[in-house]
Amino acid sequence: MSKVIRFADRRVRIEDDSFTLVRDAGAPIAPEGDILVPLSDWLERRDALLNRAGKVGLWVSPSEDPKQLSGVLDGLDAIAIEFPKFTDGRGYSIGTLLRKRYGWKGELRAFGDVLRDQLFYMARAGFDSFAVPETRDAVATAEGLNDFSAFYQDAVADIALPAHRRRELAAREAKITRTLRQLKEIAARHPGAALATSLSAEDMVVTDLIARNELPIHIFTLDTGRLHEETVGMIGEIQNRYGLAIEVMKPVQASVDAHVGTHGAHAFYDSLELRKECCGIRKVEPLNRALTGRSAWLTGMRRDQAVTRGQLAEEERDTDRGMAKFNPIADWSWEDVLAYAARYDVPLNPLHARGYPSIGCEPCTRAVRPGEDPRAGRWWWEQRDSKECGLHVSNPPPPILVAAE
Ligand code: ADX
Ligand code: SF4
Repeated sequence: MSKVIRFADRRVRIEDDSFTLVRDAGAPIAPEGDILVPLSDWLERRDALLNRAGKVGLWVSPSEDPKQLSGVLDGLDAIAIEFPKFTDGRGYSIGTLLRKRYGWKGELRAFGDVLRDQLFYMARAGFDSFAVPETRDAVATAEGLNDFSAFYQDAVADIALPAHRRRELAAREAKITRTLRQLKEIAARHPGAALATSLSAEDMVVTDLIARNELPIHIFTLDTGRLHEETVGMIGEIQNRYGLAIEVMKPVQASVDAHVGTHGAHAFYDSLELRKECCGIRKVEPLNRALTGRSAWLTGMRRDQAVTRGQLAEEERDTDRGMAKFNPIADWSWEDVLAYAARYDVPLNPLHARGYPSIGCEPCTRAVRPGEDPRAGRWWWEQRDSKECGLHVSNPPPPILVAAE
């Protein structure tokens, strides 16, 4: 029997799956047993489906218009949404629509090409379960969920945790306390200190700590003009969640035009030199402008993000800009970041749910599979040790500037 992984009540369980997926519309309906039928069957043969023995659920492909689900959900026991590819985010939107707009309270499950890390995002989007494909081992899939269940265990008071899990949670708690203390010290020592946010999960965690504790730390983002729309959308998410309008820095248009005019719109694929020139114009120069007149800046960088960051200190000197630089979550793991986001309901860039652990500009970032280096999707055509954009190296090359008219 196939298996389903349930995570509805913030704990992970593997169960036999009672539902059979009926792929084809118009197929003969078995008189008993739990079935998931296509939307057209549900719309056309609803009475017949309800008059048989067994539960009836609906399976929905993301290519179907989700508006068709409005007003037709009564009588259903489950809704299963297909994820044809792990990079396809449409299923999350349908799940959110069902829960928030159409008030669906029954089982919401996912099936298809779903990575184990994505179950975390599914739970946040209101999903209850994942039907494990026949080709995958359910226990192996669920084994990777130990961390996932730990995201929530500190919020569940009534369960006895094993000692090692309690130690992990205490260590995580200590990191949050230490980070908050450091942020308060930075704010006190450096009036005008600023966080550079790329709007990724790490920076959202630091933003949350600043916003919820009302720390006087300025927040800005570098809108390169090549960001994904999901990333740009996070600026509005921050406004909605915290009532905070972060500063949006843009590149000098004349510099962009000169670079694109000379080298084309995709010159970054041609050579490392041209890629760094583009980053210089779209990121480094606006960063330098954002930091002018400040005595300190902050990032959301972590040591285990990249080989180039293994030695990252929590406090360093940005000698080129003549100021202090802080990496307050340098010792946090990716799981620490997600655990914090789960606990404080921090808005997350939807791209993380589609296989993007590290997010940069759209043409220079792709999704990665589990086991791949988290930064493998950044400038994926380059060598691992060249994968920095110039924001964080000392002696960054001087930005190429063309005087604006
Ligand atoms: S990058 O150097 O490869 O682009 P990464 O995406 O890992 O860096 O982000 C590291 C830190 O750089 C972020 O935590 C953030 O502080 C800063 N940063 C990166 N991109 C931006 C951006 N577009 N706007 C503001 N800060 C950014
Ligand atoms: Fe240009 Fe790519 Fe750098 Fe963005 S990441 S500034 S598009 S080279």
